[in-house]
Amino acid sequence: MKFFIDTANLAQIKEAQDLGVLDGVTTNPSLMAKEGISGEENVLNHYKAICEIVDGDVSAEVISTDFEGMVREGEALAALDEKIVVKIPMVKDGVKALKYFSDKGIKTNCTLIFSAGQALLAAKAGATYVSPFIGRLDDISTDGLGLIESIRVIFDNYGFDTEILAASVRHPMHIIECAQIGADVMTGPLSAIEALLKHPLTDIGLAKFLADHAKANS
Ligand code: E4P
Repeated sequence: MKFFIDTANLAQIKEAQDLGVLDGVTTNPSLMAKEGISGEENVLNHYKAICEIVDGDVSAEVISTDFEGMVREGEALAALDEKIVVKIPMVKDGVKALKYFSDKGIKTNCTLIFSAGQALLAAKAGATYVSPFIGRLDDISTDGLGLIESIRVIFDNYGFDTEILAASVRHPMHIIECAQIGADVMTGPLSAIEALLKHPLTDIGLAKFLADHAKANS
């Protein structure tokens, strides 16, 4: 399973990249705003800065919701770097834009997926990735991981190349369960990725090894 980090924070992207397990980055307008990035030129420069750090796909989201606007913005984003994946919301014009970019060989990530039907439609339109938001479904007492399972079955039934990018990941168990189900990619915060390495028995075991070594060598 590929690991993407879900942030526009350059320091966190660098930290995840330095860990050696990072396969890409996802951003969204809220994450860009959180970093105080505004204005077209600053936004484009920030995406370029992200592409310089990471060795993999970088999802950059369009703001337009009409076909012409999405095409205009998406082409400008894709021209920045070959790592850029144009992120498009699941709306009617978005489906048309997915098909347009797919025909041009430009990678896409269809975002705000909350049902298997939406994922199927995006795959039919040639999306490179679909992003089901599992955390936000869990937040409203709905089964986020169940949606990943349904999409996995559908894509496998028909051999769709579209990758399932489990998004809105909140904690390490989301990552582990997505891996068990067979999501192709997960995107989450650095905290969820780093939480994978923690276990109290590891800490206790290491402390004992070091104490025994110190005693034997004193
Ligand atoms: C996906 O690409 C989104 O950026 C993201 O995963 C949303 O996560 P959130 O629900 O934690 O905002």
